[in-house]
Amino acid sequence: MVAVAVLGYGTVGSGVVEVIETNHDSILQKTGVDLQVKYVLDLREFPGDPVQEKLVHDYDVIVNDPEVRIVVETMGGLNPAYEFTKRALEAGKSACTSNKALVAQYGTELLETAKAHQASYLFEASCGGGIPIIRPLRTSLGADVIDEITGIVNGTTNYILTKMSDEGLEFDDVLRDAQQKGYAERNPEADVEGHDACRKIAILSSLAYGKRVDYTDVYTEGITKITSAEVRYAKELGMAIRLLAYSHKDVENDGRVIAMVAPFLVKKTDPLYFVNGVFNAIFVHGNMLGDAMFYGQGAGKEATASAVVSDVIEEAQTLGSSVMSEWSPEKQELQPVSETEKQFFVRMAGDARNREEAEQVFGAISTVQADLPDEYGFITPVMSEAKFQECAAQLEDKVLGMIRIRA
Ligand code: HSE
Repeated sequence: MVAVAVLGYGTVGSGVVEVIETNHDSILQKTGVDLQVKYVLDLREFPGDPVQEKLVHDYDVIVNDPEVRIVVETMGGLNPAYEFTKRALEAGKSACTSNKALVAQYGTELLETAKAHQASYLFEASCGGGIPIIRPLRTSLGADVIDEITGIVNGTTNYILTKMSDEGLEFDDVLRDAQQKGYAERNPEADVEGHDACRKIAILSSLAYGKRVDYTDVYTEGITKITSAEVRYAKELGMAIRLLAYSHKDVENDGRVIAMVAPFLVKKTDPLYFVNGVFNAIFVHGNMLGDAMFYGQGAGKEATASAVVSDVIEEAQTLGSSVMSEWSPEKQELQPVSETEKQFFVRMAGDARNREEAEQVFGAISTVQADLPDEYGFITPVMSEAKFQECAAQLEDKVLGMIRIRA
């Protein structure tokens, strides 16, 4: 029997208890691991819930109990999640989490602590919810040099963008609907401003490229500036607007790494075009593998708990050793976004018959109409972001909006 303690009996924590209890026999049969939840830590009481028998309010009970070999941190936030995880690892217990904020901020240090104490720190559920992506990156794709990861890694924003497109609604209206349905938080900033996706791409890039990507270095734009006008142009172009968390390593050119989060126009030929609603997908390119995409439930109680318990199982199978491949604590310098090249879609005030003005600045453009008064759209040639900003500045306030186009 392997005794497990779950820290935090919220949505994910209660899901973890449910998965371990409901699937106990199937887990035992498939993996040979007999998991038992010994403690659940929470400040609250849960009268009438069988968890009450396992409930403790003092973390010392857990960390000082040698029978507990695995600590599942599903508290969220940085404190006391960081301190509790660190203490568990220092006591030689393995830990796992769904907490991307903690992994993005302290993952490097916690991985080193785990290794120093022959324990593991795993975080499959921190990116892509229930979709297996961390384990494939560190094991199944271990033979590959990964040079691109592009994900739709935030279900809330993908739900909003999909609904704006399907129903022609404005951002604020869809956000309110998403909040009512529980797909968006009451404070939606972390999702709609791209911060959640930023932390996830920093974790995935650190793992894929082997060096610590600092999430504060990742250029991040959210979806709050997307309006029904942008959506109408996207439809005319036969493309979809998606919030992409993109990272690329230029393995043939001194290994430069770019990582960014921003809304992109995605073509119909791209598998990410078909990822709708709350679903997530993570596209990976490897030098031997070629293209692969991981698709599924990126959030939700059971899906996320399923990923957390997959870590618990692996830790139970490898007690006394450290299984996570680490990344170097050395910081991965990121190429400035201004140097990267792509095409841009631009919303321009005025009449398309006067397109020479835009042509003189941007060169050969192709225009698109969405039957919107006093404006038209155009696509620029491939150019650097710096050049785009220079050109847009020349047109002053006639540029009404811009979306990058995924190549
Ligand atoms: N708020 C996140 C999302 C939850 O919408 O994807 C899962 O990390």
